Amino acid sequence: MAARTLSVDPAAPDPRVIAEATRVLRSGGIVAFPTETVYGLGARALDEAALARVFAVKGRPSSHPLIAHVEGEEGARLLAATWSALASRLARKFWPGPLTLVVPKAAHVPLALTGGSDSIAVRAPSHPVARALILALGEPIAAPSANRYQEISATSAAHVAKALGDVVDLILDGGPCERGIESTVVDVRGDRAVVLRPGPIDREALREIHPDVTSGKPIAVAGAPRVSPGLDERHYAPRARIVLAATRPEAEQMACGLAASGVRVGMLVRGRREPDFAMALGRGDRVVVRALPRDAAGYAREFYAALHELDDDAVDAIVLEAVPDDEAWWAVADRVRRASSAKRTAEKE
Ligand code: TXA
Ligand code: MG
Repeated sequence: MAARTLSVDPAAPDPRVIAEATRVLRSGGIVAFPTETVYGLGARALDEAALARVFAVKGRPSSHPLIAHVEGEEGARLLAATWSALASRLARKFWPGPLTLVVPKAAHVPLALTGGSDSIAVRAPSHPVARALILALGEPIAAPSANRYQEISATSAAHVAKALGDVVDLILDGGPCERGIESTVVDVRGDRAVVLRPGPIDREALREIHPDVTSGKPIAVAGAPRVSPGLDERHYAPRARIVLAATRPEAEQMACGLAASGVRVGMLVRGRREPDFAMALGRGDRVVVRALPRDAAGYAREFYAALHELDDDAVDAIVLEAVPDDEAWWAVADRVRRASSAKRTAEKE
């Protein structure tokens, strides 16, 4: 069944559309909505029955915590047992925006939201539709990315409809997402800022606020949960197997080799110039090329959409030209690595 979808102006959302979405949320429903990063699968954050539905439709284990979306620092503090000076400085600098803070949870926050953990992830999104929805509801909204568990995140309403159209109650279509990859998740329960998931707010930006920024495992806090599920390798995977190529010529060679052996190949390259080698070799029907922008922000914005398109094109393998190994590409490289390792892990099983 096609999902009920309402178009909404991403810059100036119609209050009537927002009112309808809040009505659905208040009745325990699920509303997919745009944020500046990716689309979210929204439900009332403190409503356990609604949360259970989110986990069920996403097919996500109940131990994987959700992010509570709030209007700003004030709303976040209501969900936190303690709010450190570091949390405050980061929130003031980067909110509203693509930064998620992990803090100790307040007693009234249901464990269903936090996956059984005594910490909670909070984020104030900057997208006008997300903000309007949170404000109109007057409560935090729990929202994982609007994709099925371990599949590619959605950066458009069409992506949401494709993956979850038959199970969400309403989709707000606010056009494509500006950032295109998920928020940076930072654990601020200790003295350091520990990045649990790289994202649009990079380490350099975080270091301007606090010099001690590390990546990886969450800080060991008494009673704290295991490694953040966000570090799960098997994430963001397209159906097709991804093969990494170090350079553009290597990518072309690999694609040709695969096509010659009868495989339907997708190519994801950097640089707007559409390679014409596939046509030149008479393999135009076997090689589908997607060219992404050369800059990291542009690449991030279009990356998931390109993977969705290649999946729609039913390619068997995707040859991906490696992205640069530098700070600007930090978050994109993380998503590329996970998308390519995911399938390999699955294949081993
Ligand atoms: O950009 C985003 O963050 C999007 C939009 C919709 O806001 N949301 C999103 O949600 O990506 P999700 O559920 O797909 O990813 C949430 C991430 C996961 O990596 C999860 O492990 C981490 O946040 N997380 C949530 N709560 C946590 C907690 N209490 N402790 C550690 N990590 C947590
Ligand atoms: Mg996700």
